[in-house]
Amino acid sequence: MAARFAMLVTFLFIATCANMVLSENLDDIKRKIRFVLRGSMPELLPTTGQPVEVTLGLDLTAIRQVDTTRGEIEILAMRSLLWNNPLLSWKDKSQGFSHDPISIDIKKVWSPDIVAYNAIHPPEVLSPPLAIVNEDGSVMYIPNERIRFGCDLENFSTAEGSNCTLVYGSWTYNAERMNVTGSSVSTNDFRADARFDLLHTYIETEVTYYECCPEPYVRVKITLNIREKKPYFTWWN
Ligand SMILES: *[C@@H]1O[C@H](CO)[C@@H](O)[C@H](O)[C@H]1NC(C)=O
Ligand SMILES: *[C@@H]1O[C@H](CO)[C@@H](O)[C@H](O)[C@H]1NC(C)=O
Ligand SMILES: *[C@@H]1O[C@H](CO)[C@@H](O)[C@H](O)[C@H]1NC(C)=O
Repeated sequence: MAARFAMLVTFLFIATCANMVLSENLDDIKRKIRFVLRGSMPELLPTTGQPVEVTLGLDLTAIRQVDTTRGEIEILAMRSLLWNNPLLSWKDKSQGFSHDPISIDIKKVWSPDIVAYNAIHPPEVLSPPLAIVNEDGSVMYIPNERIRFGCDLENFSTAEGSNCTLVYGSWTYNAERMNVTGSSVSTNDFRADARFDLLHTYIETEVTYYECCPEPYVRVKITLNIREKKPYFTWWN
């Protein structure tokens, strides 16, 4: 009985302490979020002359469908976008904030308007619309997406397979305002499929010029080399 009572007291004591620490933290976090979002304007490109440097990568998790009749494929992938927004930094601001990163609603801050030009439907975003902001103003946004895009699948059942290329770029900014660089395609989380083989992945960053304008535009091309999986040949073939 006494032991139980002691346990209960200890439990209540720990719970109270945890609560106190938690409410202090909550207050700090609230102040920090208010500070980070002060006067935030999602339309404002966070630059002073130099282009905003954005890094784009893809973590491919699955190939959902290959439609050879329509020439379309559907994939699941986590697209990683990294950039720096000095307006969000709380470093050296002597506010006494902790170094811990915060999660914020992506719609409340500026984010790169990078789209896949050859997507057939708007990508379906399967993850919460949250980004991580670090003390130095670096932002990491990793939407998990279902993307359907066009691809010439003429050679899908040959040994070389087909190259399906996703072309990413900014919708409104040229490279002098927002510069995009392709980082890598990861297949560490890729779920193998009984129907298709993923032979290779490629990522390249290209600079292009249009007739209209003298400014350079960047495109990041992500290519998936896929092939139809064939049943093994048996001895009587
Ligand atoms: C399919 O393979 C043939 C023969 O190698 C090649 O000439 C053709 O360009 C390929 N088609 C596509 C869409 O890559
Ligand atoms: C796919 O694209 C890569 C990179 O552009 C190229 O090296 C490779 O030969 C292509 N493969 C096929 C099957 O078209
Ligand atoms: C964009 O970045 C690449 C390398 O990351 C660099 O070579 C290029 O000059 C940059 N473009 C502009 C317009 O700053």
